[in-house]
Amino acid sequence: MLPASLESRLRLPLIAAPMFLVSGPALVVAACRAGVIGSFPTANCRTIAELDAWLAEIKAATAGAAPFCPNLIVHRSNPRVADDLAAVLRARPEMVITSVGSPEPVIKPLKDAGCLVLADVASVRHAEKAVAAGVDGLVLLTAGAGGQTGWVNPFAFVRAVRRFWDGIVVMAGGMADGQAVAAAELLGCDLAYMGTKFIATRESLAKPAYKEMLVDARLDDVKLTRAFTGLETNMLRPSIEAAGLDPDNLPERGAIDIAKDINAAERERLDAPGSRARRWKDIWSAGHSVSGVADIPSVAELVERTAAEYASVQVVKT
Ligand SMILES: Cc1cc2nc3c(=O)[nH]c(=O)nc-3n(C[C@H](O)[C@H](O)[C@H](O)COP(=O)(O)O)c2cc1C
Repeated sequence: MLPASLESRLRLPLIAAPMFLVSGPALVVAACRAGVIGSFPTANCRTIAELDAWLAEIKAATAGAAPFCPNLIVHRSNPRVADDLAAVLRARPEMVITSVGSPEPVIKPLKDAGCLVLADVASVRHAEKAVAAGVDGLVLLTAGAGGQTGWVNPFAFVRAVRRFWDGIVVMAGGMADGQAVAAAELLGCDLAYMGTKFIATRESLAKPAYKEMLVDARLDDVKLTRAFTGLETNMLRPSIEAAGLDPDNLPERGAIDIAKDINAAERERLDAPGSRARRWKDIWSAGHSVSGVADIPSVAELVERTAAEYASVQVVKT
């Protein structure tokens, strides 16, 4: 049940999903202008000053368009949650997504500022907890999603959540085209996330070689592993192989440490010439929806095509 003021500004019930080191202002602005919700993790900014600048730029460029939606990674290892939250509150976006942790600590300030809060959850227990904490919507992370993934079957997950929740539900994982978006809606979702397909757009911050690999990859090239982040993550087998590793014999890794990922000095070290291939940098993630990546269009073209696919679906009830 989307608020009418939001629904009326959407061309499609779609969110260009937040993606670490992939979603920046160009992608977000193009998505919003094309009529879908554009999202980005605040962790993509190396400093709070940069985050303030991104938020101001995106806000100015999307006035009257679909809403933009910052994503706060609320995992306890993220030392920047409070500062990023303060920057988001200064910008007053219409909606915010929380991920990789409990939304509880950030809900009150966001709701007080009039923000719609969506929390990403991967189990029914976490969905119940997020609802009890007062969220407006749930992003259901299902099996096959890109990045840190879910493991629950989407059909069962949506229906299980709909037994106790009539607020906003977003399907995350496996959205390879507009037909999938229509199917998610039929199942009971209000919105769908599309991540991997937006990596392979001209506006994404991903390296050209990453985008090309998505075009060439098939569904079977997606490898589920805990080796790179400590949490179950879907990765591209060819990128693991290119880094000199065997995708079928990867080591287990310890707990996720977002502090390390967003630390500016660490990122510069990874950017330095000669740096060894490291997780998120040259070992790349993709969801099962990589099966729908055939080229590298602009964001506007991707939304246009998805809207045409969505419109082609006819549901006949007898
Ligand atoms: C490269 C990559 C980075 C991601 N980074 C984030 C992130 O920073 N925050 C977040 O909430 N989700 C992140 N995700 C998950 C996406 O928001 C979304 O759940 C997922 O892409 C949906 O599946 P799909 O890629 O098959 O569409 C990431 C996904 C990918 C592929």
